[in-house]
Amino acid sequence: MPKLAAVTGWPLTYTRSPILHSYWCERYRIKGLYLRLPLAPENFERGVRALQALGFAGLNVTIPHKETAFALVDQRGLSAQRAGSVNTLIFEADGQIRGECTDGVGYVDSLREAGVELPRKTLVLGAGGASRAVCASLLDAGCSLTLANRTRTRADNLIAALGGGAVTDWQSWSERLGEFDLLVNTTSLGMAGQDGYDWVGSLTHADPELVVSDIVYMPLETPLLAAARAHGLIGVDGLGMLIHQARPGFKAWFGTYPDADPVLRARVVETLD
Ligand SMILES: NC(=O)c1ccc[n+]([C@@H]2O[C@H](COP(=O)([O-])OP(=O)(O)OC[C@H]3O[C@@H](n4cnc5c(N)ncnc54)[C@H](OP(=O)(O)O)[C@@H]3O)[C@@H](O)[C@H]2O)c1
Repeated sequence: MPKLAAVTGWPLTYTRSPILHSYWCERYRIKGLYLRLPLAPENFERGVRALQALGFAGLNVTIPHKETAFALVDQRGLSAQRAGSVNTLIFEADGQIRGECTDGVGYVDSLREAGVELPRKTLVLGAGGASRAVCASLLDAGCSLTLANRTRTRADNLIAALGGGAVTDWQSWSERLGEFDLLVNTTSLGMAGQDGYDWVGSLTHADPELVVSDIVYMPLETPLLAAARAHGLIGVDGLGMLIHQARPGFKAWFGTYPDADPVLRARVVETLD
């Protein structure tokens, strides 16, 4: 019987997780099966418990279930507590469900893979679910953190929940850009068809050493990254985070800590057009 794991979300149209886990099963010669199993919100808890009863090792959880999963689990790892959400469920042998959030560690690992040394003076744009995981990991890596979000109260609440960092105004973050050496976009601006923001103008005050990172990976070259390149700045795309966040789950379910190798990256890139 192969080891079983899956990704669930709703409607789960564009997940790349099966590509990652199937690649690693093949590469490490592991008898494993990783499925795509959409679950509507009203079926989420029943579905999770059914998969546990069927002998699955665990699940990846994506939009819109990450906060529901946080409430459902029996144990929350430190990463889940820091992120306030869960993207990885591990079905333990004693019947308990452990929840982790690997987005933050995946993000920091993607920076390291790109040769970006931490800590850095960081400005993060956006205060949604992904931002909290990214911010927590940046703080844990010793970075200073300043946050700007269109809806100011969300940024204030996030900084309060994290217990560190400061907030700056969304309208004027670009004027302060010279104070930072890492800019991270965690807003959904830049996703295909959702931009129109003046990124080129916003980077005018950038220090030449600024690293610009965008966690959006569809398109891979976002308008922000294109603007960074136009200013001669180093850009880091969001695909590394996507690949690295999957590694701890694979280890928990299939027993091997997998590499984020270039062949895998190329396979995912092929699917982004
Ligand atoms: N690379 C990866 O592995 C990875 C992992 C997770 C997420 N992501 C990407 O990260 C992005 C955010 O995901 P999420 O789950 O954090 O979403 P979310 O919780 O819905 O948060 C969206 C964020 O974007 C901001 N925003 C949306 N439209 C905006 C606009 N027109 N102008 C300014 N700000 C705007 C929101 O600001 P308000 O608070 O003002 O609404 C909020 O801060 C998505 O594109 C997702 O694909 C990538």
